[in-house]
Amino acid sequence: MDVDDARSAMVSHLRAAGVVRSPAVAAALAAVPRHRFIEGAGAEAAYADKAVTVKTTDDGVPISSVSQPTMVATMLELCRLAPGHRVLEIGTGSGYNAALLATIVGVAGRDGDGGGVVSVELDADLAAGARNRLHQLGVVGVRVVTGDGAAGHAPGAPYDRVIVTAGAHAIAAAWDDQLRVGGRLVVPIVDAEGIGVVRCLVKGPTDFEELTRVPCGFLTMRTA
Ligand SMILES: C[S@@+](CC[C@H](N)C(=O)[O-])C[C@H]1O[C@@H](n2cnc3c(N)ncnc32)[C@H](O)[C@@H]1O
Repeated sequence: MDVDDARSAMVSHLRAAGVVRSPAVAAALAAVPRHRFIEGAGAEAAYADKAVTVKTTDDGVPISSVSQPTMVATMLELCRLAPGHRVLEIGTGSGYNAALLATIVGVAGRDGDGGGVVSVELDADLAAGARNRLHQLGVVGVRVVTGDGAAGHAPGAPYDRVIVTAGAHAIAAAWDDQLRVGGRLVVPIVDAEGIGVVRCLVKGPTDFEELTRVPCGFLTMRTA
């Protein structure tokens, strides 16, 4: 099977499983070449419904992965994205999810910065790799920022959506501060082993309202 057929099969599988429900998420998953975000991956490895580690510590402990397609699609659906939304992503990693987000929201450019998506990555080498990949693939509308995602990225606020793609132990104050009222926060809240739930929350005038939670396992956020 070539990569295009494998990608189509992945989308069909996610639709049949009821994970992908919206045309926008299906179209983004069909359009963004996941194999280009995973060095040396062939069709089978790149489009299996599995997370793929892209960086480890010197001891072999995973610190960055391209998340499992089922989880990626689940979180995108929970975000309920629309064209023109401004999105803050925490944990750029390979840049794959940032490309999916940008494909759905387009280039907002509300303040003329040309970006609908701001993605924050702790590791400078991962951020640089993601920037290169997005550039090579012609993905526009993503600004990759190197920094600690716990601080969000205030210059781009307020955001319509905040999506956290690393396991957090709590909701950081900055994500709340930088999300507009009525906006959604999709965040995995996990224990020390990375096991927990993805929480989907809507920001009200005084507090968050939880819409749903989905069991998950995630690489945990690290501190700067
Ligand atoms: C599961 S991976 C994210 C996958 C990514 N969204 C993708 O599509 O490839 C988690 C990422 O969060 C990053 N990370 C961990 N702690 C962080 C922090 N405090 N701030 C920003 N990024 C962080 C890791 O380096 C890793 O790249």
